[in-house]
Amino acid sequence: MRRKVTVIGAGNVGTTAAQEVARRDYADVVLVDIVDNLPQGKALDLNEAGPVLGYEPTIIGTNGYEETAGSDVIVVTSGKPRSPGMSRDDLVTTNESIVGAVTRAAVERSPDAILVVVTNPLDAMCHVAKHASDFPRERVFGMAGILDTARFRAFIAWETGASAKDVQAVVLGGHGDQMVPVVSATTVGGVPLAQLVSAERIEAMVERTRKGGGEVVDLLGTSAWYAPGAAIAQMVDAIVLDQKRVLPCTALLEGEYGIDGLYMGVPVKLGASGIEEVVQLELTGAEQAALAASAEAVREVVRVLTLG
Ligand code: NAI
Repeated sequence: MRRKVTVIGAGNVGTTAAQEVARRDYADVVLVDIVDNLPQGKALDLNEAGPVLGYEPTIIGTNGYEETAGSDVIVVTSGKPRSPGMSRDDLVTTNESIVGAVTRAAVERSPDAILVVVTNPLDAMCHVAKHASDFPRERVFGMAGILDTARFRAFIAWETGASAKDVQAVVLGGHGDQMVPVVSATTVGGVPLAQLVSAERIEAMVERTRKGGGEVVDLLGTSAWYAPGAAIAQMVDAIVLDQKRVLPCTALLEGEYGIDGLYMGVPVKLGASGIEEVVQLELTGAEQAALAASAEAVREVVRVLTLG
């Protein structure tokens, strides 16, 4: 039997993720949205691309949850995106009620699923999904680090003239302007970044990465979706294909990195049971301090949640 991946929210990010997953052809995809006809229309269009692109037309669009029953993975993208001038944290109250409601509806029919949260403010919305589902931390986590790291890797590839494929990097912390690109763990073809690029240029790339989401919002008037959709699909790959990839994801920390009871971006080993290990990196003193500051910024947003 084919696996089932549900994507809640048939907006820019959700539909792009659904398309990326459908193209892999290892799972049926269910696309859910509250807007009448929107998920049905997107699903029809995606199905009609299947014969051309070589995947089975098995995408269902729906305004309900019956079709989602028995999902292996549920991706939550429903909620408001940012517009220019807004921080991710400005979305917290509106999106808390949306993420809480959709999570409850989805997990009722898929009690063994793995939840991948995408809606912003991401770290806080992971707490909402964890609370609403009551799933163990292994099965509730968020997508942000792959995207933030991809942005950093793209900037490094441009700066050094090397292929992005040969840039290894990791971005830790909350999915906000205080995220922590870990320069000490960043290499190009195995050579430490600091040997290739001046400290000043590295700092400029770190800053651009931190503001990477806002840079797209300023250009488009709304959040990015191509890179986020690709990042979601990479996580779904790791889970459905049990790849044991080590990827930066937003995980509930229980003492790792000196942080307890908070969702933060860290490298994890991702496989069929979800988070199989939180990978501990050696950080410099400055990186550890930056991570602590990022954790405090996340805690401030989490304090706003009602978790009703
Ligand atoms: P969008 O506005 O294009 O799509 C959101 C969709 O959610 C809409 O179609 C809307 O009808 C639907 N929706 C709202 N309430 C719903 C409900 N109760 N049930 C089902 N569907 C519902 O927004 P976009 O650009 O797709 O962004 C979605 C979210 O993802 C935003 O919160 C955005 O900030 C976040 N995001 C997170 C990223 C990350 O790295 N974690 C990256 C990019 C976006």
